[in-house]
Amino acid sequence: MLGGRMPEKSEATRRIQELRETIARHDELYYRQGTLEIEDQEYDALKRELAGLEAEFPELASEASPTKRVGDDRTEGFAKVKHRERMMSLDNTYSEAELREFAARLGRIFPDRNLPYVVEPKIDGVAVCLTYEGGQLVRAVTRGNGVEGDDVTANVREGVPALPDTLKGDAPEVIEIRGELYMTRAEFLRINTEREEKQLPLFANPRNLTAGTIKQLAGVGGRRLEIVLYGLGACQPRTFKTQSEFHAAVKGWGLPTLEKYWSAQGIDEAWACIEKLDTLRHDFAYETDGAVVKLDDFALQAEAGATAKSPRWAIAYKFAAEQAETLLEKIDVQIGRTGAVTPVAHLKPVQLAGTTVSRATLHNEDEIARKDIRPGDTVVVQKAGEIIPQVLRVVTEKRPADSQPFEFAAFLQEKGIEAERVPGQAFWRLKGRDDPALIRRRIAHFAGKPCLDIENLGEAVVDQLVTQGLVRDPADLFTLKVEDLLPLEKFAQKSSENLVAAIDASRRKEVWRLVHALGIPNVGAQSAKDLVAHFHSLPAIMRAQPEELEQVDGIGAIVAQSIRTFFEDEAQLDLVERLIAQGLRIEEEPPAAGGEETPLTGKTVVLTGTLPTLSRDEATALIEKAGGKTSSSVSKKTDYVLAGDSAGSKLDKARKLGVSIIDEDAFRAMIGE
Ligand code: IVH
Repeated sequence: MLGGRMPEKSEATRRIQELRETIARHDELYYRQGTLEIEDQEYDALKRELAGLEAEFPELASEASPTKRVGDDRTEGFAKVKHRERMMSLDNTYSEAELREFAARLGRIFPDRNLPYVVEPKIDGVAVCLTYEGGQLVRAVTRGNGVEGDDVTANVREGVPALPDTLKGDAPEVIEIRGELYMTRAEFLRINTEREEKQLPLFANPRNLTAGTIKQLAGVGGRRLEIVLYGLGACQPRTFKTQSEFHAAVKGWGLPTLEKYWSAQGIDEAWACIEKLDTLRHDFAYETDGAVVKLDDFALQAEAGATAKSPRWAIAYKFAAEQAETLLEKIDVQIGRTGAVTPVAHLKPVQLAGTTVSRATLHNEDEIARKDIRPGDTVVVQKAGEIIPQVLRVVTEKRPADSQPFEFAAFLQEKGIEAERVPGQAFWRLKGRDDPALIRRRIAHFAGKPCLDIENLGEAVVDQLVTQGLVRDPADLFTLKVEDLLPLEKFAQKSSENLVAAIDASRRKEVWRLVHALGIPNVGAQSAKDLVAHFHSLPAIMRAQPEELEQVDGIGAIVAQSIRTFFEDEAQLDLVERLIAQGLRIEEEPPAAGGEETPLTGKTVVLTGTLPTLSRDEATALIEKAGGKTSSSVSKKTDYVLAGDSAGSKLDKARKLGVSIIDEDAFRAMIGE
């Protein structure tokens, strides 16, 4: 929090604004594009810092803050659909006493009765509402803000093969069936292993990946999701009297349903069922983080009613996160692509929620100080739905007598790591650009899949190139010769020639890849594409003033300033000049050969929704072949919006701005395909 001291209000106002903008941007990237530009730890640190400032200055807190917006998943690009019946959330408790208070409140509404409950597992997934009409699946919509959500029908159909399109047997005319999308641990691991091989950032946990997958605009990309259904929304005609009857019907229709639920008379029996669930839940196919206790009888539910946010007839009892005690052997640091220096705990391996844990994140310097974590301490580690465990607290009674507080700055100095604390933030960044760890990360990023995508230049090779002193920055890659590579481990004539050829081929890759590869803070693949679509060349981006940069859709004041600062840095300018001297492509190619006009020369097209036959990539390729450019957002400068099914707010914006809207047929006719 602002260097660990109490910030001035004006300083806090500025910082809160900046944090909200940055976090919103990363959320957008994560949820809409399924990508990450910063590491999880950095993201968490930003959120924690914002929550801290908002707590300190409540007058600056806002309902629109990302710390408050937990209950709204609506994103741009999806059509909005109103739920027939509102999707509410649940009150949560971790305490048995509060659970009993819930029952006591109901007891006051319905005196002298041992109320009938159902106890269900609480699935840690992503809520979704399915509508079946005449027994046919017609729509799948996210919870959104509870009143309306995003139409994700196409992604649900593609991504959830276990979901039947047609209900077996008799079904009501119209029914909303609610449930949870989730991803199996096996599928999550498969995707992360693949990403690791491609050197892409890893997803933090199955829940976030499920949320990201269902919100991808271009389909689910081969990721497999599952669904479990447990809730009734609108239903015509209304035929069910109880939740248990509804569960039986869900099963009868052939839909995936809860593996187990219990009927209980009164809260004592319900509590016994919760304890039973706790012993069984690790064998379920989905992550279960608690139990949901509901009044079984729909008539009683209606009578009990709801508050503004949640029903009075149900409560979620959450199981405490998995914890274990172990020895913190040493504290070390991890260095991220952007040079962020993050402390990591090396632990004596311990079993935790079915896996062996030997490392845990310590987040940042302040976190270590706040919890007074020291090497040699016995610590409690926790896994709370997250894959990366955390150090929760120190068991001080077990602290060795000679223990000393851990001094982060002194530790870095001792290790010879030249870093500085980023002003106004809780984390440290490497100072020297000569640190081999940072050089390795920078080159691996430059060569990685989302950047210049240089084949066979994985981390192990980068490691050798840097250790052997062959490469100090990305421009050095282009001076490598076959003879330089031959002495390296696992390199022979053919593999050396292949790598040199792959590096050479990267000279001709799209300009946005180079812009992304430079590693400008806050500029990811999408921003790089937007910048190149707007300025057409790297030198033009380098010259642009912040006001001009802000003209680009999706680039705000912070990112604009970050680009400016980057290109004012002598060392970066030197690198870019050397890359240019190496013949890398820095300008978009002229639209057509021989100056010949093609159908979309100079035109900007925005894609939205699902096209009948073309994938997003195919449509983009056709647009570019016809001399046009694509952009991710609609503005007055957009020439056409190419819209398919489930097109959302981009279509509305196009209508508002009077931009021409075309469908796939019109598009094909236009480009003569
Ligand atoms: S009932 C009005 N039952 O937990 C009742 N919800 O924290 C609303 N959830 O939004 C939901 N398992 O996404 C219900 N067995 C279960 C559930 C469940 C998971 C989710 C659901 C809800 C959230 C509330």
